[in-house]
Amino acid sequence: MDATSNSETPQDTLYDEIDTFFESAPPLKDGPDISRKLKEFIERNSQSTGKGASRVVCVTSGGTTVPLEKRCVRYIDNFSSGHRGAASTEYFLKAGYSVIFLSRRGTCQPFCRSLPEDPLLECFEVSKELNVRVCQPHSEAVRTAIGEHCAAVKGGLLLKLPFTTIFEYLQILHLIAMSMKNLGTHAMFYLAAAVSDFYVPWKSMVEHKIQSSSGPLDMRLVQVPKMLSVLRKDWAPVAFCISFKLETDSKILLEKAEIALKKYNMHAVVANELLTRKEVVIVVTSSEKISVHRDKTEASADVESPLIKLLVEKHSSYIEHLDS
Ligand code: PMT
Repeated sequence: MDATSNSETPQDTLYDEIDTFFESAPPLKDGPDISRKLKEFIERNSQSTGKGASRVVCVTSGGTTVPLEKRCVRYIDNFSSGHRGAASTEYFLKAGYSVIFLSRRGTCQPFCRSLPEDPLLECFEVSKELNVRVCQPHSEAVRTAIGEHCAAVKGGLLLKLPFTTIFEYLQILHLIAMSMKNLGTHAMFYLAAAVSDFYVPWKSMVEHKIQSSSGPLDMRLVQVPKMLSVLRKDWAPVAFCISFKLETDSKILLEKAEIALKKYNMHAVVANELLTRKEVVIVVTSSEKISVHRDKTEASADVESPLIKLLVEKHSSYIEHLDS
């Protein structure tokens, strides 16, 4: 496999690459439906104005896929269980935010973390009279999960939008950013999704399943334009933006996070290492680097609890500073 590099892409070339990406992407199947849901959600959550105005965060979660064929049999995937995004969504809701949860189909969902891997088959049993009931050991977890999920969705505080491919992800992210534009400083982007760096443009993608009888696979992948700079500059210029930096080599992690902070003009970059990502993250801003740890004295504690607390404080200072 081969990839073209655009690490020093001039601004005009970046905009050309973004145009090419969107023009060549297959249209979203349910685009009008997503736009309608977003419009209703933002209208419901932007009633008040001024300092007490409601805050809305877009949480992205899970990995994007890159199809290799239009009638897709094979694809390249990006690692992410979706745990970070799902847990963070719960804490944002607790902190009073409304959440647009843009997540990869099939990955971890908010309020499901304490359920077993196959909740339907493991949490329920059927009696002789064919009544379905919750198995005793899981009854508390099921009641809490369903109760909190229903309250958030029916209360209009949580909007869940699924994606699978890089094409869907970036098109929906664009729609979300456009819909949140009027929220000004009260909007936040928390970009925890693991986004593909390379893709096969739709135009040059083969229609049918690639045949293994044709011999070794030799294909050229194009670099996915980094949408972070255009999100900050054009899509949502006053929103509070947090991106993530994942590395497997701790020696380069902070340096890479600092580069991303400056290059994409983020308000904060959350740096994490693959093996320790559930224990510790480092929040990098222009003035400080703060290590955030999971509370090890509590078995069920997670790192997202102190992380979201810190980011909510930073968002409050940002609103205070810009709106005063
Ligand atoms: O889901 P879990 O298993 O709980 O794991 C959580 C996590 C490790 C996936 C998460 O904490 C995390 O680090 N997510 C970002 C991983 C990643 O893709 O890092 P990156 O260095 O490739 O990208 C950095 C940022 O650029 C990301 O915020 C991404 O949204 C953005 N990006 C990346 C590629 C691209 N073409 N465009 C982008 O905008």
